[in-house]
Amino acid sequence: MARPRSSYVCQQCGHAALAWSGRCPGCGEWNSLVETRPEPARRGRSAGAAASRPIALRDVEAPAVDRLLTGVAELDRVLGGGLVPGSLVLLGGSPGIGKSTLTGMALGNLGAAGHRVLYVSGKESAAQVKLRAERLGEAALGVPALAETSLEAVLAVLEAERPAACVVDSVQTLHAEGMSGAPGSVGQVREAAAAIMEVAKRIGSAVILVGHVTKEGAVAGPRVLEHLVDCVLLFEGERERSYRTLRALKNRFGATSEVGVFEMRSGGLVEVADPSARFVGEASDAPGSCVLSAMEGTRPLLVEVQALVAPTEIVPPRRVTNGIDRNRLAMVLAVLARHGGPSLASADVFVSVAGGVRVDEPGADLPVALAIASAHRGEPLAGPGRRPLACFGEVGLTGELRHVAHPERRVGEALKFGLAPVLGPEAGERIEGLTAVPSLRAAISLVAGRGAKLRDAA
Ligand SMILES: Nc1ncnc2c1ncn2[C@@H]1O[C@H](COP(=O)(O)OP(=O)(O)OP(=O)(O)O)[C@@H](O)[C@H]1O
Ligand SMILES: [Mg+2]
Repeated sequence: MARPRSSYVCQQCGHAALAWSGRCPGCGEWNSLVETRPEPARRGRSAGAAASRPIALRDVEAPAVDRLLTGVAELDRVLGGGLVPGSLVLLGGSPGIGKSTLTGMALGNLGAAGHRVLYVSGKESAAQVKLRAERLGEAALGVPALAETSLEAVLAVLEAERPAACVVDSVQTLHAEGMSGAPGSVGQVREAAAAIMEVAKRIGSAVILVGHVTKEGAVAGPRVLEHLVDCVLLFEGERERSYRTLRALKNRFGATSEVGVFEMRSGGLVEVADPSARFVGEASDAPGSCVLSAMEGTRPLLVEVQALVAPTEIVPPRRVTNGIDRNRLAMVLAVLARHGGPSLASADVFVSVAGGVRVDEPGADLPVALAIASAHRGEPLAGPGRRPLACFGEVGLTGELRHVAHPERRVGEALKFGLAPVLGPEAGERIEGLTAVPSLRAAISLVAGRGAKLRDAA
């Protein structure tokens, strides 16, 4: 049988050429031609084929499907309650972050619960996969593994085995027969994902595609897959630190705001069910430290924000951040200078979220501002009993404190750890334990006495 011939389709204008060239003959764009295989189904369908009839959604038969619980609670939560049969999940993460470990644990648990599972490894030999599984324990050793890079072979095994859940590690190592692009190229990756999706939907198997991430944080190559798959998860963290966070960038079956927190240990990834306890326990009562009551998805999370202010001769002075957005710090510094805080034009400012966590929310403005003011004055923010100060709130450009989502849950979380009162913006309703302040100026003058008392007592 003659192999279907690839064509080279421009990603900008859709022009199809028979041979690759650096510049699209259609629109003149450079490097936009991607090798594409014709879809057999579409070629076979003639104009005379019977048209499908649309049906009202209420009449569509949709059997209630049970989600597959991976047994890794944080992963299940980020997925929106487990894997959906027949869905395609893309798991991205930088090298060595623990993607294979996470998926290996999930498959191990699913296998132990009596589901058919399959682990396809394109990067590592079965022996290497076994070494990791030995570290993860008995359940992971029971997972059937296949070391294969040929897409056709993987599809055949999927059809034959019909696993309930399958992991392809990684999608960039698969090579489709008859396509000339190197594994990992846009054409190959898209072909592999589309073919796997077609089979997975047909046999109702949930597939997790593992993908690498580039330095810029984009899922490399598989960026083109993001709209194809049902769910895109990003596994992040700094390799030198043990904390890892799992976030959903896209989820057709759940919220994208959920975050799972893990810690890498010798026995594999351990879920950190109560990250607040961990981070508050590490908080100090030194000047420049305070606790942010953040919301990570539906879960409140307490993290320590630290600031250091050091005089400098350098112009412009340094602004270094770790775990928060640098532009956000610039904005907070500007507001501080205008509205009741110090002017730090001749000082280096360092702000860091302890534990290597990243917070991406406006509620961090107030803790950042107060930590900087405290570091500048050399006065701790800690209150009675040396308990750190907990706060949250967005700082507006005119110095006002603005409402942020879920104030009651943030306050509740802080109270749980004995951090009271909590400083925050007016909530519109009475919240037990919240000290509402209207502006940054008011917040700064309110905490000024707090540290002084502690200092005097010491
Ligand atoms: N015995 C051990 N104790 C603690 N951590 C370990 C141990 N062995 C491996 N690790 C950690 O596991 C990480 C590797 O995990 P894993 O192979 O799952 O990553 P990955 O994201 O799949 O990497 P790649 O992109 O190379 O496939 C290492 O970076 C290391 O931090
Ligand atoms: Mg791996």
